[in-house]
Amino acid sequence: MQKKDIDWAALDFGYHQTDYSYVCDYAEGAWGEGGLTKDHTVTLSECATILHYCQECFEGLKAYTTEDGRIVCFRPDLNAERMEASARRLIMPPFPKERFLEAVREVVGANAAWVPPYGSGATLYVRPLMFGTGDTIGVRPSDKYQFRILVTPVGPYFKGGVTPIRIIVSDYDRAAPHGTGAIKAGLNYAMSLWPYEMAHAQGYDEALYLDAATRTYVEETGGANVILVDAEGRLVVPQSKSDSILPSITRRSLVTVARDLLGMEVIERPVRFDELGQFVECGLCGTAAVIVPVMSIVDSETDYIFNGGSDEIGPVLGELRRTLTGIQEGRIEGPEGWVVEIC
Ligand code: PLP
Ligand code: COI
Repeated sequence: MQKKDIDWAALDFGYHQTDYSYVCDYAEGAWGEGGLTKDHTVTLSECATILHYCQECFEGLKAYTTEDGRIVCFRPDLNAERMEASARRLIMPPFPKERFLEAVREVVGANAAWVPPYGSGATLYVRPLMFGTGDTIGVRPSDKYQFRILVTPVGPYFKGGVTPIRIIVSDYDRAAPHGTGAIKAGLNYAMSLWPYEMAHAQGYDEALYLDAATRTYVEETGGANVILVDAEGRLVVPQSKSDSILPSITRRSLVTVARDLLGMEVIERPVRFDELGQFVECGLCGTAAVIVPVMSIVDSETDYIFNGGSDEIGPVLGELRRTLTGIQEGRIEGPEGWVVEIC
């Protein structure tokens, strides 16, 4: 199969329309047949619940070309399960897991020419989404929904790729205790745009959120979880007591990689902001971000510097990143079932 004629290495994290998306509608209590479409637009009633009450959730995963030319996805079953949890919380009918996996297979396979070649540094980003399409003017759930998957070839989420980034603590909160922070709902991202723009205006790459209840603990950024390495070389993963952090598939995978493949000690616990000075490496992890090293985190009083302020990823996060991407690209054997072959 002939790949598209694209300068893959020059891709940023942007939208490029491909050949096919996947679409399936829900009405009268059941999901329809669904299938591939070449129509990349959506026509909606002006009264659709997505437009008024943000009844929407989404997912993000990637497809990779392996060294031997296969196309694979990384742990799509966990995306299916998380999307089911997101949908349930928003009173949307979950798209069945087996159908989710089949739809990913179908749409990635149909767009095989868009999956960046092995070694190009780019990947195919797969974005499942679901939203209320029914006319609902009162605040209540829709009776009609659409599930779609769009795919787009992408480069690094942050411009510098693996260049360490600088973060500022947001004065705003991302997710309330017992709120919607643990699901992947569009509403969590709408409110993050302002803090993100503020961080940029002040010259930082990202905004870090603290726990909303006490503003004491490290939570996450608008699009990635935080991971830390202490002076003893242990991986420390901030946990929230209030379920307000998105359960990142990358973070959960890294915990297993660190513990079982690299023999590292891993500690998952709430981490106070004022403890950050004791960590030697800090990173953001997620599907889009992979692992991006953090050079510094500042708030109005403190400036925490990691990895000695180096402009390169630190040794422990570097090893974790090499191992994770090695598994994702089929160079390293990962735990059974993590890498799913598409074609
Ligand atoms: N946290 C937030 C708020 C995110 O949007 C994402 C992206 O999906 C992540 C963390 C990372 O999650 P994952 O590793 O499953 O992509
Ligand atoms: C992902 O990593 O897949 C996300 O959804 C994060 C988003 C901010 C791009």
